[in-house]
Amino acid sequence: MGEATMTQTLIKKGAEASLYIADWHDRHVIIKKRLPKKYRPEQLDFTIRRYRTVHEPQLMHEAKRAGVPTPTIFLVDVQNSTIVMEYIEGKQVKQVLDAATKMQRQKICREIGELIGKLHRHGLVHGDLTTSNMILTDLEKIFLVDFGLGDKNAELEAQGVDLHLLKRALQSTHFKVADECFHAVLDGYVSVRGQDAAATVLAKIREIEKRGRYIAERQQDAP
Ligand SMILES: Nc1ncnc2c1ncn2[C@@H]1O[C@H](COP(=O)(O)OP(=O)(O)O)[C@@H](O)[C@H]1O
Ligand SMILES: [Mg+2]
Repeated sequence: MGEATMTQTLIKKGAEASLYIADWHDRHVIIKKRLPKKYRPEQLDFTIRRYRTVHEPQLMHEAKRAGVPTPTIFLVDVQNSTIVMEYIEGKQVKQVLDAATKMQRQKICREIGELIGKLHRHGLVHGDLTTSNMILTDLEKIFLVDFGLGDKNAELEAQGVDLHLLKRALQSTHFKVADECFHAVLDGYVSVRGQDAAATVLAKIREIEKRGRYIAERQQDAP
């Protein structure tokens, strides 16, 4: 990438990766760089970073084919664990959800549910469905980012976990509107997957929640 990369501005230093915004061949891009973890043996560390660097763009590409807006990937530099992708201009859903009107919120959440439905219908799970990983553009299109923990997995369990994670994320980040939002998400999800498939996933979510409570109770009862 060398010469073409001019100024890079760090926008996020995460646990796993650093993100930069840069101008690259006359485009605004995001550069996602996975940095070495010193606590991991060197060879294992490289293997993990290489896997995620290759895996994330593949899933983003698959998601796009499933009809889910994701940033276009411009370059994958495996040796440097670096991905260069389209910069999506917009705001994190996290930043807009609480202040939105009820109608806007319903619309956004329904759309999110439709996107998740499309992923699941195509045998993909996102793996980290939080409102930080969703970008709302000025044209009110929602992009999903951060597929590093995603998977090609069509199993009911994985789909249940995916949605359950979003439910938990809504409860912790948007507690005042969480229930309303999750209902709208499910409406969107049902509209894509159909009543039967959606009902099966819903039953799975309830099972996952019961399991969670059971574990919590056992921990309380433990001596
Ligand atoms: N292509 C992109 N365009 C615009 N913003 C992005 C893009 N990719 C990531 N971001 C922003 O940067 C944040 C961190 O990126 P992410 O891929 O989620 O990294 P992490 O694995 O550290 O969470 C995201 O929550 C999102 O707000
Ligand atoms: Mg993220």
